[in-house]
Amino acid sequence: MTGPATLGRGFGHGKLILVGEHAVVYDQPALAAGISVGITAQATAGDGALSVPAWSLSARADDGTTVGRGLDAILKRLAARDLDFRLEAPLPARAGLGSSAAMAVAIARAAAQARGRSAADEAAAVADAEAVFHGSPSGIDAAAASLGGVGRFRRADGWQAVPVLQAMTICVGLTGRPRDTSAQVANVGRLRERTPAAGKVLALIGELCPVAEHALAVGDIDGLGRLFDVAHGLLAALRVSSPEIETLVHGARAAGAIGAKLTGAGGGGAVIALAPGHEKDVLARWRRDGFDGFLTEIAGARP
Ligand code: MEV
Repeated sequence: MTGPATLGRGFGHGKLILVGEHAVVYDQPALAAGISVGITAQATAGDGALSVPAWSLSARADDGTTVGRGLDAILKRLAARDLDFRLEAPLPARAGLGSSAAMAVAIARAAAQARGRSAADEAAAVADAEAVFHGSPSGIDAAAASLGGVGRFRRADGWQAVPVLQAMTICVGLTGRPRDTSAQVANVGRLRERTPAAGKVLALIGELCPVAEHALAVGDIDGLGRLFDVAHGLLAALRVSSPEIETLVHGARAAGAIGAKLTGAGGGGAVIALAPGHEKDVLARWRRDGFDGFLTEIAGARP
């Protein structure tokens, strides 16, 4: 039996923020990678239904749920309410790896392809959905999900691809606790209003971005790993770490990582670690402590 005809297909990358989460909301630069693990959407004729079997998730553009409202925003922008979408999602949901942006990009791409709409319309549809999911996001997740590779992102300038001299393997550890980006961003906002030192911490995080960019450009993986540790300490000062994140970070370091940090909004979600030659030890240590993880490669690239 053949299924309904595919009218459009789209892929959105998962993302890892290497340095600069939270600071990027306040116009500081951040460095992120769009990774090869992501989400693929297939569009068929229908009436605005979405299914994501890997996440046991179904939604409809008119069901009033957050996912349904995000889907509705995309379909309105692209005049595509007469499509259904089925997603393949090897990327874990709500893990700090940009699943909502990857989902929005995959759906918008599939819908734009089916309807012959422009890349600009597709980007506007993704921004509409991200506003539903996260309130007022910086846009870094959507840029990484759509463009892939490694880039520097600043609200004012958007995404600029940056050179990476040497490919590197990143260990990604999953806390298993869903992160809530808008809540974490709001908490940091409140802390910044009440505590001027928090503003200085955000500025310091921004200062790490050009240093990390240089480390990538010259292949200084040790230097980048040490910056992960500094970035993590600063993020913990903003109170976006958690007991699970600390266990993953300390476990990675004990298993031979040069450096480890939370990635994304924090409070739960994921941790990244650089551990050249010890990647399997890091994954084994995380498993021993009750956490899943995986390895992903950041390819060397000259934009
Ligand atoms: C979330 O992946 C990154 C944050 O900086 C929020 C944002 O940039 O919108 C925490």
